[in-house]
Amino acid sequence: IEKAVMVSPSSPVPPVILTQDELKKIAAYKAVEYVESGMVLGLGTGSTAWFAVNRIGELLQQGKLKNIVGIPTSKKTHEQALSLGIPLSDLDKHPVLDLAIDGADEVDPYLNLVKGRGGSLLREKMVEGACRKFVVIVDESKLVDHLGGSGLAMPVEIVPFCWKFTAYRLQRLFEYAGCVAKLRTCGENGEPVVTDNANYIVDLYFKKDIGDLKVASDSILRLAGVVEHGMFLDMATTVIIAGELGVTVKNK
Ligand code: 5RP
Repeated sequence: IEKAVMVSPSSPVPPVILTQDELKKIAAYKAVEYVESGMVLGLGTGSTAWFAVNRIGELLQQGKLKNIVGIPTSKKTHEQALSLGIPLSDLDKHPVLDLAIDGADEVDPYLNLVKGRGGSLLREKMVEGACRKFVVIVDESKLVDHLGGSGLAMPVEIVPFCWKFTAYRLQRLFEYAGCVAKLRTCGENGEPVVTDNANYIVDLYFKKDIGDLKVASDSILRLAGVVEHGMFLDMATTVIIAGELGVTVKNK
């Protein structure tokens, strides 16, 4: 959705038109209400998470939050957090986090997610898998009935070595769902996108339902050459959705 309208049925004032960015910001600010002083925080990546990280930095600068330690999920978020003066650490020093806040590309009714269209799925999965609470922030355009059913990419991070072989095997794995596997590229010459971990990303596009997600996940991870995939199953504890009718909070 490009625009959404917030309406109050009894209100005489004209409806407020909100852009998708404003919805993202609303979801992000709501999630930051879960942050308390002294927490170790997973800092997400992407345009929605950007608002949350920015807000955390702002509250630290205002002295409204204290003793926060951030663990970024990408080099980009690392840079953003540094520029805001958020103290940073890593999973080696903090193997258990209190809370992580991040966006998602798809959210199903069971709060399973697709992530990684921004390319940071491996670090996101490591950090968010180590959190006591994982709050996901989305605008309502991210809601789907089935993961992979939106016709958009399901990202898989793979090693560069013989990437065509791995992409081919991924495509074969989901032949029953009409899968097409495409290397993610950038620039005029179609150079492979290289992740923060020096890997490549193959995006899987499905024409049909991929079926049981756990089975799909296990079979992807069994392929040598695969590092991680973008299905985040049973990881989100809370999803905050900003939409036309306001903010909805769904808890696991
Ligand atoms: C990055 C991600 C992002 O969280 C996801 O792509 C959502 O991004 P945005 O908030 O920009 O829509 O998984 O790897």
